[in-house]
Amino acid sequence: MGSGMNEFLETAREAALEAGEVHAKYFDRDLQIDEKSGTHDLVTEADFESERIIVETIRQQFPDHNFLAEEERYETTDSEYTWIIDPLDGTNNFASGIPVFCASVALACKGELIAGAIYDLTRDELFYASPGEGAYLNGQRIRVNDAGILSQAILATGFFYDRGPDMKNTLRNIEKFFLSDVRGIRRFGAAALDMAYVASGRFTGFWEFSLHPWDFAAGKLIVEEAGGMVTGLHGEELPLESHYVVASNGSIHQHILDVLNSAGSPEA
Ligand code: IPD
Ligand code: CA
Ligand code: CA
Repeated sequence: MGSGMNEFLETAREAALEAGEVHAKYFDRDLQIDEKSGTHDLVTEADFESERIIVETIRQQFPDHNFLAEEERYETTDSEYTWIIDPLDGTNNFASGIPVFCASVALACKGELIAGAIYDLTRDELFYASPGEGAYLNGQRIRVNDAGILSQAILATGFFYDRGPDMKNTLRNIEKFFLSDVRGIRRFGAAALDMAYVASGRFTGFWEFSLHPWDFAAGKLIVEEAGGMVTGLHGEELPLESHYVVASNGSIHQHILDVLNSAGSPEA
């Protein structure tokens, strides 16, 4: 993809790269770090500044579009277009100097995703997709892997900030996957990047129970364009308001759902 790239995707890519420059400015330096509402959910000046630069970059092209972003609220316009933004996914990593984080920028029109970009500064990897055009990593087409059984699969999951029943279920599911002979499970700490890794065939699948639209919107489009599947916990189409996300290469999707829905799992 190159000359044919649509202006929405170009803007998503540019905004994600601009956020990466902000990440570079703050990463591994002294940072102002706060805790959101007394939880384990951190926020840093890099989160706010990267969100500002993403919104500014998009507004230069599309001044009347809407924004659904993690750190600030934006006045609603009449536009059918909404940008869904996680300016810094993996803040806990970032704040600890762990080099696993990214920016995630997606655009939806009437609830349909039409562009998505995820940028990982530390590996200089830009993942992106638009509908019907395939998924790309730094200009190269990417595809999900072809693992068909759990013993061939490395899965990823996430531990959110809540310490309630969803956390217990996540821990129980980790045990169930290992008892079902999964090859491995990783927890890297940046959900958008986990999904980009499913799209590029590094992970076979990913599940998490307490996500927000900005964590998975870009990743959903990129996984689907890479030939994979993204659904709710029972295989249903995933609304952007969902908190339960299951992403995979498609071939193994039902196996993952079966484990997640076997005895002891949560209700979506
Ligand atoms: C978090 C990360 C993490 C996931 C959490 C998210 P943040 O996002 O994606 O991997 O487990 O559920 O909230 O707070 O770093 O943007
Ligand atoms: Ca996030
Ligand atoms: Ca974030």
